[in-house]
Amino acid sequence: MNRKYRKVIIAGNWKMNTKPSDVKAFVEKIRDLTVRCKWCETVICAPFSHLTVAYRAFWNGRISLGAQNLSQYASGAYTGEVSGEMLRDLNVKYVIVGHSERRQYFGETDITVNKKVHAALDTDLRPIICVGETAEQREMGLTEELISYQVRAALAGVPEERIRRVVIAYEPIWAIGTGNTATAQQAQEVNRHIRAVIRGLYGARLARAVPILYGGSMNESNAEELLAQPDIDGGLIGGASLVPEKFSSIIMAACQE
Ligand code: PGA
Repeated sequence: MNRKYRKVIIAGNWKMNTKPSDVKAFVEKIRDLTVRCKWCETVICAPFSHLTVAYRAFWNGRISLGAQNLSQYASGAYTGEVSGEMLRDLNVKYVIVGHSERRQYFGETDITVNKKVHAALDTDLRPIICVGETAEQREMGLTEELISYQVRAALAGVPEERIRRVVIAYEPIWAIGTGNTATAQQAQEVNRHIRAVIRGLYGARLARAVPILYGGSMNESNAEELLAQPDIDGGLIGGASLVPEKFSSIIMAACQE
Protein backbone atom coordinates (compact mmCIF):
# COMPACT_ATOMS: atom_id res chain seq x y z
CA MET A 1 0.00 0.00 0.00
CA ASN A 2 0.97 3.58 -0.49
CA ARG A 3 -1.26 5.66 1.74
CA LYS A 4 0.05 8.90 0.31
CA TYR A 5 -1.75 8.31 -2.96
CA ARG A 6 -4.47 5.72 -2.33
CA LYS A 7 -6.89 4.47 0.26
CA VAL A 8 -6.60 0.80 1.21
CA ILE A 9 -9.65 -1.29 0.30
CA ILE A 10 -10.39 -4.52 2.15
CA ALA A 11 -13.26 -6.13 0.25
CA GLY A 12 -14.98 -9.34 1.28
CA ASN A 13 -16.51 -11.48 -1.47
CA TRP A 14 -19.10 -13.69 0.15
CA LYS A 15 -19.85 -15.48 -3.16
CA MET A 16 -22.93 -17.75 -2.80
CA ASN A 17 -22.53 -18.19 0.96
CA THR A 18 -24.44 -17.06 4.07
CA LYS A 19 -28.12 -16.08 4.39
CA PRO A 20 -29.68 -12.63 4.69
CA SER A 21 -30.50 -13.42 8.32
CA ASP A 22 -26.76 -13.87 9.07
CA VAL A 23 -25.83 -10.31 8.11
CA LYS A 24 -26.70 -8.45 11.32
CA ALA A 25 -24.72 -10.69 13.69
CA PHE A 26 -21.75 -10.66 11.29
CA VAL A 27 -21.64 -6.86 11.15
CA GLU A 28 -21.90 -6.56 14.92
CA LYS A 29 -18.92 -8.85 15.35
CA ILE A 30 -16.85 -6.87 12.86
CA ARG A 31 -17.74 -3.69 14.71
CA ASP A 32 -16.58 -5.19 18.01
CA LEU A 33 -13.34 -6.55 16.59
CA THR A 34 -12.12 -3.56 14.55
CA VAL A 35 -11.56 0.14 15.05
CA ARG A 36 -12.44 2.92 12.63
CA CYS A 37 -9.41 3.81 10.57
CA LYS A 38 -9.19 6.67 8.15
CA TRP A 39 -7.06 5.13 5.43
CA CYS A 40 -8.84 1.80 5.05
CA GLU A 41 -12.27 1.25 3.55
CA THR A 42 -14.00 -2.03 4.34
CA VAL A 43 -16.38 -3.39 1.71
CA ILE A 44 -18.57 -6.48 1.71
CA CYS A 45 -19.75 -7.76 -1.65
CA ALA A 46 -22.89 -9.64 -0.68
CA PRO A 47 -25.28 -11.75 -2.78
CA PHE A 48 -28.17 -9.78 -4.36
CA SER A 49 -30.61 -11.39 -1.91
CA HIS A 50 -28.78 -9.80 1.04
CA LEU A 51 -28.48 -6.24 -0.21
CA THR A 52 -31.54 -4.67 1.38
CA VAL A 53 -30.74 -6.18 4.78
CA ALA A 54 -27.06 -5.34 4.41
CA TYR A 55 -27.79 -1.74 3.53
CA ARG A 56 -29.66 -1.34 6.80
CA ALA A 57 -27.02 -3.20 8.80
CA PHE A 58 -24.11 -1.23 7.28
CA TRP A 59 -25.77 2.19 7.66
CA ASN A 60 -23.37 3.40 10.33
CA GLY A 61 -20.77 3.79 7.61
CA ARG A 62 -18.15 1.36 8.89
CA ILE A 63 -18.74 -1.03 5.96
CA SER A 64 -19.45 -0.06 2.36
CA LEU A 65 -21.83 -2.21 0.39
CA GLY A 66 -20.79 -4.09 -2.72
CA ALA A 67 -22.49 -6.49 -5.15
CA GLN A 68 -20.88 -9.41 -6.99
CA ASN A 69 -22.23 -8.84 -10.48
CA LEU A 70 -24.48 -6.56 -12.54
CA SER A 71 -26.19 -6.68 -15.89
CA GLN A 72 -24.48 -5.19 -18.90
CA TYR A 73 -27.89 -3.76 -19.87
CA ALA A 74 -29.56 -0.69 -18.37
CA SER A 75 -33.14 -2.05 -18.22
CA GLY A 76 -35.70 -4.07 -20.16
CA ALA A 77 -36.69 -7.66 -20.95
CA TYR A 78 -33.71 -9.48 -19.39
CA THR A 79 -35.27 -11.99 -17.01
CA GLY A 80 -33.18 -12.70 -13.95
CA GLU A 81 -30.78 -9.79 -14.42
CA VAL A 82 -30.06 -6.93 -12.00
CA SER A 83 -29.09 -3.50 -13.33
CA GLY A 84 -26.59 -0.97 -12.04
CA GLU A 85 -29.39 1.49 -11.37
CA MET A 86 -31.19 -1.05 -9.16
CA LEU A 87 -27.99 -1.60 -7.18
CA ARG A 88 -27.31 2.10 -6.84
CA ASP A 89 -30.84 2.60 -5.52
CA LEU A 90 -29.93 0.22 -2.66
CA ASN A 91 -26.87 2.31 -1.81
CA VAL A 92 -24.48 -0.18 -3.34
CA LYS A 93 -21.14 1.53 -3.95
CA TYR A 94 -18.91 -1.21 -5.43
CA VAL A 95 -19.57 -4.10 -7.80
CA ILE A 96 -17.26 -6.97 -8.71
CA VAL A 97 -16.94 -7.33 -12.48
CA GLY A 98 -15.43 -10.27 -14.33
CA HIS A 99 -14.61 -12.50 -11.39
CA SER A 100 -12.91 -15.65 -12.71
CA GLU A 101 -15.86 -17.73 -11.48
CA ARG A 102 -18.18 -15.62 -13.68
CA ARG A 103 -15.79 -16.05 -16.61
CA GLN A 104 -15.42 -19.79 -16.01
CA TYR A 105 -18.97 -20.87 -15.14
CA PHE A 106 -21.18 -18.19 -16.69
CA GLY A 107 -19.47 -17.50 -19.97
CA GLU A 108 -18.32 -13.95 -19.29
CA THR A 109 -15.73 -12.75 -21.77
CA ASP A 110 -13.46 -9.72 -21.95
CA ILE A 111 -16.14 -8.10 -24.13
CA THR A 112 -18.96 -8.58 -21.59
CA VAL A 113 -16.62 -7.50 -18.81
CA ASN A 114 -15.98 -4.25 -20.68
CA LYS A 115 -19.73 -3.70 -21.14
CA LYS A 116 -20.31 -4.29 -17.44
CA VAL A 117 -17.52 -1.87 -16.50
CA HIS A 118 -19.34 0.80 -18.54
CA ALA A 119 -22.71 -0.21 -17.05
CA ALA A 120 -21.23 0.21 -13.55
CA LEU A 121 -19.60 3.57 -14.27
CA ASP A 122 -22.75 4.86 -16.02
CA THR A 123 -24.72 4.23 -12.82
CA ASP A 124 -22.10 5.70 -10.48
CA LEU A 125 -20.93 2.33 -9.12
CA ARG A 126 -17.24 1.61 -8.64
CA PRO A 127 -16.31 -1.57 -10.55
CA ILE A 128 -13.80 -3.95 -8.95
CA ILE A 129 -12.43 -5.52 -12.13
CA CYS A 130 -10.90 -8.97 -11.66
CA VAL A 131 -8.04 -10.20 -13.82
CA GLY A 132 -5.78 -13.20 -13.43
CA GLU A 133 -4.03 -16.10 -15.10
CA THR A 134 -4.36 -19.88 -14.77
CA ALA A 135 -1.49 -22.03 -13.48
CA GLU A 136 -0.80 -23.22 -17.06
CA GLN A 137 -0.63 -19.68 -18.40
CA ARG A 138 1.84 -18.75 -15.64
CA GLU A 139 4.00 -21.80 -16.39
CA MET A 140 4.04 -20.83 -20.06
CA GLY A 141 5.32 -17.36 -19.14
CA LEU A 142 2.16 -15.64 -20.41
CA THR A 143 1.10 -13.87 -17.21
CA GLU A 144 2.12 -10.30 -18.06
CA GLU A 145 0.84 -10.47 -21.62
CA LEU A 146 -2.49 -11.92 -20.55
CA ILE A 147 -2.99 -9.46 -17.71
CA SER A 148 -2.16 -6.52 -20.00
CA TYR A 149 -4.79 -7.74 -22.45
CA GLN A 150 -7.43 -8.27 -19.76
CA VAL A 151 -6.84 -4.82 -18.26
CA ARG A 152 -6.83 -3.04 -21.62
CA ALA A 153 -9.97 -4.88 -22.76
CA ALA A 154 -11.84 -4.14 -19.50
CA LEU A 155 -10.94 -0.44 -19.72
CA ALA A 156 -11.61 0.04 -23.45
CA GLY A 157 -13.51 3.29 -23.92
CA VAL A 158 -13.27 4.34 -20.27
CA PRO A 159 -12.46 8.07 -20.35
CA GLU A 160 -9.79 9.74 -18.25
CA GLU A 161 -12.29 11.44 -15.94
CA ARG A 162 -13.73 8.08 -14.89
CA ILE A 163 -10.57 6.06 -14.27
CA ARG A 164 -10.30 7.16 -10.63
CA ARG A 165 -13.59 5.34 -9.97
CA VAL A 166 -12.11 2.02 -11.10
CA VAL A 167 -10.56 -0.60 -8.83
CA ILE A 168 -8.56 -3.53 -10.26
CA ALA A 169 -8.11 -6.84 -8.44
CA TYR A 170 -5.33 -9.19 -9.46
CA GLU A 171 -6.63 -12.65 -8.71
CA PRO A 172 -4.47 -15.51 -9.99
CA ILE A 173 -6.93 -18.33 -10.68
CA TRP A 174 -4.60 -20.91 -9.17
CA ALA A 175 -4.72 -19.05 -5.86
CA ILE A 176 -8.50 -18.67 -5.52
CA GLY A 177 -10.00 -20.92 -2.88
CA THR A 178 -6.95 -23.20 -2.96
CA GLY A 179 -5.00 -22.00 0.08
CA ASN A 180 -2.19 -21.53 -2.43
CA THR A 181 -1.55 -17.78 -2.05
CA ALA A 182 0.77 -15.96 -4.45
CA THR A 183 3.93 -14.88 -2.69
CA ALA A 184 4.08 -11.21 -1.80
CA GLN A 185 6.76 -10.83 -4.48
CA GLN A 186 4.68 -12.54 -7.21
CA ALA A 187 1.63 -10.44 -6.35
CA GLN A 188 3.66 -7.21 -6.20
CA GLU A 189 5.23 -7.93 -9.61
CA VAL A 190 1.87 -8.34 -11.31
CA ASN A 191 0.27 -5.40 -9.48
CA ARG A 192 3.20 -3.20 -10.50
CA HIS A 193 2.72 -4.39 -14.06
CA ILE A 194 -1.00 -3.54 -13.95
CA ARG A 195 -0.12 -0.04 -12.76
CA ALA A 196 2.32 0.28 -15.66
CA VAL A 197 -0.44 -0.70 -18.10
CA ILE A 198 -2.74 1.96 -16.60
CA ARG A 199 0.10 4.47 -16.73
CA GLY A 200 0.51 3.73 -20.43
CA LEU A 201 -3.20 4.39 -21.00
CA TYR A 202 -3.87 7.32 -18.64
CA GLY A 203 -0.53 8.75 -17.50
CA ALA A 204 1.40 8.58 -14.24
CA ARG A 205 -0.78 10.85 -12.12
CA LEU A 206 -3.98 8.87 -12.71
CA ALA A 207 -2.20 5.50 -12.50
CA ARG A 208 -1.07 6.45 -8.99
CA ALA A 209 -4.69 7.03 -7.95
CA VAL A 210 -6.12 3.65 -9.02
CA PRO A 211 -6.33 1.08 -6.20
CA ILE A 212 -5.00 -2.33 -7.26
CA LEU A 213 -5.98 -5.17 -4.92
CA TYR A 214 -4.74 -8.72 -4.58
CA GLY A 215 -7.09 -11.70 -4.18
CA GLY A 216 -6.58 -15.44 -3.86
CA SER A 217 -6.38 -17.16 -0.47
CA MET A 218 -5.55 -13.94 1.34
CA ASN A 219 -5.99 -14.55 5.06
CA GLU A 220 -5.10 -13.30 8.52
CA SER A 221 -1.60 -14.84 8.32
CA ASN A 222 -0.44 -13.50 4.97
CA ALA A 223 -2.34 -10.17 4.75
CA GLU A 224 0.31 -8.07 6.48
CA GLU A 225 3.11 -9.12 4.14
CA LEU A 226 0.96 -8.72 1.03
CA LEU A 227 -0.31 -5.29 2.10
CA ALA A 228 3.24 -4.12 2.81
CA GLN A 229 3.99 -4.23 -0.94
CA PRO A 230 3.98 -0.80 -2.59
CA ASP A 231 1.51 -1.71 -5.36
CA ILE A 232 -0.89 -3.87 -3.34
CA ASP A 233 -3.61 -1.50 -2.17
CA GLY A 234 -5.86 -3.96 -0.43
CA GLY A 235 -7.48 -7.34 -0.85
CA LEU A 236 -10.44 -9.14 -2.35
CA ILE A 237 -11.09 -11.87 0.14
CA GLY A 238 -13.33 -14.91 -0.31
CA GLY A 239 -13.12 -17.69 2.29
CA ALA A 240 -11.57 -15.61 5.08
CA SER A 241 -14.24 -12.89 4.70
CA LEU A 242 -16.87 -15.35 5.96
CA VAL A 243 -15.25 -15.64 9.38
CA PRO A 244 -15.55 -12.38 11.36
CA GLU A 245 -12.36 -13.02 13.38
CA LYS A 246 -10.29 -13.64 10.24
CA PHE A 247 -11.79 -10.77 8.26
CA SER A 248 -11.28 -8.40 11.20
CA SER A 249 -7.60 -9.38 11.47
CA ILE A 250 -7.13 -8.51 7.81
CA ILE A 251 -8.83 -5.13 8.32
CA MET A 252 -6.60 -4.46 11.31
CA ALA A 253 -3.49 -5.41 9.27
CA ALA A 254 -4.51 -2.68 6.80
CA CYS A 255 -5.03 -0.17 9.62
CA GLN A 256 -1.60 -0.54 11.18
CA GLU A 257 0.33 2.68 11.79
P1 PGA B 1 -10.49 -16.75 -1.74
O1 PGA B 1 -11.37 -16.04 -2.88
O2 PGA B 1 -10.03 -15.69 -0.80
O3 PGA B 1 -11.42 -17.74 -1.09
O4 PGA B 1 -9.35 -17.41 -2.43
C1 PGA B 1 -10.99 -14.81 -3.41
C2 PGA B 1 -11.93 -14.40 -4.50
O5 PGA B 1 -12.38 -15.27 -5.27
O6 PGA B 1 -12.28 -13.22 -4.66
